[in-house]
Amino acid sequence: MTAVLRLERVTAGYSADIDVLRDVSIEVEAHAIRGLIGLNGAGKSTVMKVACGLLRPRLGRVLFEGRDITGLPPHELVGLGLSYIPQESSLFPAMSVQDNLMIPLRRLRELRGSRDEATADRTRFETMLEQFPMLRDKLKQPAGSLSGGQQKTVEFAKAYLLRPKLCMIDEPSIGLAPKIAEQVFDWIRLFTREGMAILLVDHNIRKVIELSDFTYVISLGEVTAAGPREHFQGDMHEQVKQWLGLNY
Ligand SMILES: Nc1ncnc2c1ncn2[C@@H]1O[C@H](COP(=O)(O)OP(=O)(O)OP(=O)(O)O)[C@@H](O)[C@H]1O
Ligand SMILES: [Mg+2]
Repeated sequence: MTAVLRLERVTAGYSADIDVLRDVSIEVEAHAIRGLIGLNGAGKSTVMKVACGLLRPRLGRVLFEGRDITGLPPHELVGLGLSYIPQESSLFPAMSVQDNLMIPLRRLRELRGSRDEATADRTRFETMLEQFPMLRDKLKQPAGSLSGGQQKTVEFAKAYLLRPKLCMIDEPSIGLAPKIAEQVFDWIRLFTREGMAILLVDHNIRKVIELSDFTYVISLGEVTAAGPREHFQGDMHEQVKQWLGLNY
């Protein structure tokens, strides 16, 4: 089966002389959750930036459903069905919650030239509100006036509206109260039930391994280990420490 996303031997960095990623190969199968774990600064977010077109790799290729997308700009990749919920906010703070949600959806429809767009958008919006009911009475508020947890809800609702083939999610639970963090992981499960593939990074390693069918460990810009969930059974703490190079 063709992977939705495949990074092939990617070497990338933010300046010519430092390679933040070295020879990184990872893939995400359709409908699956793939985890990516590693210490701070290991290169996890950089993997996502390369995959979504924000950073062009120096060497290697990025494939989406088998097609070479290396170097394509982010908006074209959204059109192909690749969404990204970044570690930092992607919302326009002065714009209403509703506009933050609707503008990308409209743009996507324009890009794809779909018909019946107004009705279809409304239906999709209503279905989204059923999954994210707390947004109902926040739609007219500026996104920037919402709490951190509420803004994260908008981010997930936005991705849900777009129904991408792949959603890359970077540190979704960081800074959130445990109860809201739990909700975030429920949304990730919802996304997979809807058929999306997920690439997930989170500092809650236990949660990433539990949710993912297969997890990559990245250390100093290189994939140092990878395996299915079963590989992490037993003394997971000890094993992960070893994989992350923390065994001292
Ligand atoms: N825009 C940038 N310009 C220059 N260097 C950067 C930039 N973004 C990240 N880096 C560097 O690249 C390396 C990898 O960063 P990256 O953000 O991918 O790590 P990470 O694994 O996501 O870490 P964290 O767990 O802290 O989010 C780090 O050394 C970081 O300082
Ligand atoms: Mg990061």
